[in-house]
Amino acid sequence: MTAHARSGIILAGGSGSRLAPATLAVSKQLLPVYDKPMIYHPLTTLMLAGVRRILVIATPRDLPRFQHLLGSGEQWGLDLHYAEQPAPEGLAQALLIARTFLAGQPSILILGDNLFYGPDLGAQLHRAQTQTVGATLFAYRVRDPSRYGVVELDPAGRPVSIEEKPARPRSPLAVTGLYLFDAQAPAWAQTLKPSARGELEITDLNRLYLHAGQLRVQTLGTGNAWLDMGTHDDLLDASLFVRTLEQRQGVKLASPEETAWRAGWITDAHLRDLARAQAGGAYGQYLQTLTEQENP
Ligand code: G1P
Repeated sequence: MTAHARSGIILAGGSGSRLAPATLAVSKQLLPVYDKPMIYHPLTTLMLAGVRRILVIATPRDLPRFQHLLGSGEQWGLDLHYAEQPAPEGLAQALLIARTFLAGQPSILILGDNLFYGPDLGAQLHRAQTQTVGATLFAYRVRDPSRYGVVELDPAGRPVSIEEKPARPRSPLAVTGLYLFDAQAPAWAQTLKPSARGELEITDLNRLYLHAGQLRVQTLGTGNAWLDMGTHDDLLDASLFVRTLEQRQGVKLASPEETAWRAGWITDAHLRDLARAQAGGAYGQYLQTLTEQENP
């Protein structure tokens, strides 16, 4: 494990109401993005950051399905834990639910419907983790920032304002669903009041860090992809994105098996066992080829 790797949180709660009726019986974060469950994307992003101890938060209805899919995590060299979010009361509530799990340590939180892909993602994540005081956000330029949290930077790249879904955005930079927090985050989340939509807003927590002069922003530049999958069109776009890259290059994105194997967390023999268990489909067949390739 990387010396500075911290504990991770995947927030996969929410009612998925914008995706109804697709989500009437299944959690949004379990829906397929082309060929894999959505949660494989945030999970492998945390793995890329060297994070192996992870808390998965979901609704009481859906949590058993996540446990069925991901198990203890041991098969991928991970240590997975689970907790319920009884009602969709905001992203910042994840820090309160995770308080005992974190035991006073810094954390990295990722939203279960966020897809990150890009050449410098691993390096950016490792760089961010070297900071143990304050919070770090990842900003990404989008055409329609008013759908997101929006951060405004000064010419030196320091944040000057952060707003949740502003009607008139001060910048084109969306705040992505990936946040690094220091040890004080649960205590600060405890002081938040619900917003007009009745939620503990992650943007309000980040604003506390901003006002304390402890908020950093790393921008994911051109060449990186950040997609969220909150609507049917977003979900289809993400599926087509994954399919395009996978078909063109003959690779699979967001594979926990491959990510664990490349990180050296599981052996060749173990990867072959995992591949054999899924050999009936293209995914398992792809995993089977990994240890046979000379130039993977
Ligand atoms: C949430 C956050 C928002 C952030 C977005 C990223 O929005 O509130 O600040 O930009 O996730 O996916 P929501 O998905 O709850 O609308």
